[in-house]
This record gives sequence, structure tokens and C-alpha cells, in this order.
Amino acid sequence: MKKTNFPEGFLWGGATAANQIEGGLHEGNKGLNIADVLPGGKERLNILQSPGFNFEIDREKYRYPNHEAIDFYHRYKEDIALFAEMGFKVFRMSIAWTRIFPNGTELEANEEGLAFYDRVFEELHRHDIEPVVTISHYEMPLNLVKEYGGWRNREVVTFFERYVNAIFERYKDKVKYWMTFNEINSGFIMPIQGLGFSIQKEEDLYQPTFQAFHHQFVASSIAVKACHEIIPDAKIGCMILYAPVYPYNSDPENVMFALQEERMFNNFCADVQVRGEYPAFIKRYFKENNIEVEMQDGDLDLIREGTVDYIGLSYYMSRTEKREKTKNESSQGNLIGGVKNPFLKASDWGWEIDPVGLRISLNQLYDRYQVPLFVVENGLGAYDIPEEDGSINDDYRIDFLRNHIKAMEEAIVDGVDLMGYTSWGCIDLVSASSGEFSKRYGYIYVDRQDDGSGTLERKRKKSFFWYKDVIASNGEKL
Ligand code: BG6
Repeated sequence: MKKTNFPEGFLWGGATAANQIEGGLHEGNKGLNIADVLPGGKERLNILQSPGFNFEIDREKYRYPNHEAIDFYHRYKEDIALFAEMGFKVFRMSIAWTRIFPNGTELEANEEGLAFYDRVFEELHRHDIEPVVTISHYEMPLNLVKEYGGWRNREVVTFFERYVNAIFERYKDKVKYWMTFNEINSGFIMPIQGLGFSIQKEEDLYQPTFQAFHHQFVASSIAVKACHEIIPDAKIGCMILYAPVYPYNSDPENVMFALQEERMFNNFCADVQVRGEYPAFIKRYFKENNIEVEMQDGDLDLIREGTVDYIGLSYYMSRTEKREKTKNESSQGNLIGGVKNPFLKASDWGWEIDPVGLRISLNQLYDRYQVPLFVVENGLGAYDIPEEDGSINDDYRIDFLRNHIKAMEEAIVDGVDLMGYTSWGCIDLVSASSGEFSKRYGYIYVDRQDDGSGTLERKRKKSFFWYKDVIASNGEKL
């Protein structure tokens, strides 16, 4: 191999989401969103994966870590300066829809919210960092959830259209990389965050889920077309949670089952958003399961015309599947489920660590779609314990990232067109699935603990200096 196989101009950086870093709950007239009603702590995952959540705040019972998060709202200058010190070329962030349209239904955008992101983008550009912006990252306006039933309701498409037009017009000179819905396919496992509704009875899961996906596909195509019109030199992608599915063994029944799970979870949304049509396997599934998705005239044309320019993906783990599995075999903690893979170790949170799986994923995606790929999330959530002198020696994180970066490099040599890499949680933040601060991903430590204590002081971890060298050498010094 050459010294480095990362192309010139490779987009190195880090990734975050508004609800997990900003805080500033009501500042600048921000309205409440889904993340604001999700409690912190181990209960969160259970809430996200069980039916019946009521979207109410109950301060007697729970803490709400997203309300203050790491206070990026007030500290963005300090944080961006640290990203610049590491040499970031890009910074992935999201816009909180409720800063721009507090209830989601207003006719006019909220000027204070717009002005906040103007300041953030200007600060990034001052440091030569390009923003990569997710339009909707698990933070749908609560009003649209409670009064409209989330993405099940067609009217939400109209509200979303108003939102995207407002941000494209406002930031057309400042933002050239966009993504529509974060991990759109996560709606299959956590509809609350992605689709804005809680299933009331388990048997009802698929009908509303596919209806909501359809509305998001239409909304995504509207956004793509508007982006191309308003910002012709921008690129807009979809964003998929990608976890390759391995068959447990060579039993053809298991191989077939793994393929079916692969297509449903990893490919269905991307097939629609990238190829512009519903794939044949899903049509069969709809038919055999009596699923009827309501579509309006013109929807399928719109979907065909509004295909994305690239695929953004998150990659944390692979999944191993078996048609018939017992409870004991299930991979406890692996967010996407499956059975335990005997060849893999897991993180402190049970997520199976598999760098080769990233090379596999990138090859699978590129073989299937032939559009540029962008790894916009990857990282290790781990407990970091500062030493007595205050230093944080996160060698385990460096190992994890090094192995995944090497896997990306292999994929590039395989011929994959890879645009960049923004590792997740470049600064410690609130975990999306568990609402914990102690599940840390950052190069930058933030003094904030699960019980809400801590000064919010930022500190450089050992991985900060390591990543700085990786970027400066364009991936040569790993
Ligand atoms: C992805 C999300 O699922 O994974 C992020 O897009 C999230 O919002 C990240 O934070 C890591 O997951 P977690 O649950 O460890 O925060």
C-alpha cells in the first residue's frame, strides 16, 4: 500500500447532534422537541423500545440531561476552537427544528434561532471548517408528535417543507453539505426518536412505521429537490444506520434469513432514497403482511426525481443472525440484536466491535449503489476515568478508531468512493439511547456526570493529540 490511501481533500472531522450538545432549552424561543422529554439513564432504552410512551416530562421521576447537555449553545466558540486545533476539515452538526419553528406549524421562521446557527457557521468558517448539517436528527417538534401523531401524518410533510426551505434560503452561502434524516432506518427499532410516535400495541408496529417512512421519503425528496434548486453547488445525502448482517453459519436457511434482514434493515430506505423506487422485496413483504401504504398521486414521481447525491452512514457494529434463536443465544446489548458472534468482543455497553465489518459495509454499499459514501458516525462509547493529574488516557478509544480507519483505507483501496469520516461525539455528549454522560465518545472530555454534577470544563484526552496527527498526515500516521 502507499503511505496513505486517503485521497487529497478527504473530509476528516467529528460529528454531533443539536439535542445532544446544545442545551439552551428555551433560549432564543426554542420549542420543545422529542429529545427534551426523554429521561436520562438506563431506563431510556427501554422506553425507546417499548410501546406506550406518553411524551410527558415527569421531573419527580426522572432527570432530563438533554436540557442542558454540554451547553454548546453558549460555549460553541471554545468548542470550535478545539476542533480547529485538531485540524478538522468538517464538523457534522444538526439544526434543531424547534429553534427555527418552535411548534413546527408556524408560518414564519424564528429569527433568533436562525441567527444562532448563523453565528455557529460563521465561527466554523473563521476556522476553515465546513459544516455538514443534518436537517433532522431525533429532534422533531413535540407539538407535531402530540397533536399530529408524528410522521404518520401527511401534514407533517408540509411543515417539514417550510422548515427546509427556510434553512436552505438562509444558509445557502454557508452550508454545502446536507443530510436529510439521521439514521432513517432506525425507525424500525426506535420509532419514537426517528418517526415521532410510540407504538401503542405491538401488533400495530409495521403499518404505521411504513406509512411514516413513506412520508419521510416524500419529505426527503422535496428537500433534495429544493436543495439542488436553492444551493446548486451543495451535496445532499441520506443517512443510514448500517450494520451488516452475517449468517450464523452456512445453513442456507440462516443465510437466507440474514439476507432478508439485511435488505429490510440496511437496504430498504437507501433503495428508495438512492435508487428512487420501492424495491421488489418490500412489495412482496407488503402484500404478504397486508400492509397498505397510502400514497398520493405524484409521490412516486417525486421519489424518483429527488434521489440523494451521497450516502451518509453510521457504523458501530455488525449483527449475526439465525432463523431460530433461543433467548440465551441473543446478543444482549447489541443495539441491533441478533445472536452473539463468537469472534467478536463487545464494548462496555454490549455493542459488538467489528472493524472488518466497516470494510464489508462500505463495499456492500458501493457495490449496490455506486454513489459516494461518507462515514458520518463511528466511535466507541466507553467510561473514561481521569488520572490523578487530570489526564485522560483513552488508549482503548484510539485502538478502536485506528482499526476502523484502517478498514476504511482498505475499502478505498478496494475501489470505494469515500468522501470523509466524522467520528461520533468528537466532544463528550449525552448518549442518544441511554441519556448518559458516562457513555463517552469524545476526543474532548467534558466534566459533566450522570447525576448532573460537574463544571462543564473541557479537557483534551490522549486521543485528541492522536487524531490531530491522523488528520495532519491524511491518515498516514495511525
Ligand atoms: C447513533 C445516533 O445512533 O448513534 C447518535 O445517530 C447516537 O445520535 C450514536 O448518539 C451513538 O449512540 P449512543 O446511544 O451511544 O449515544
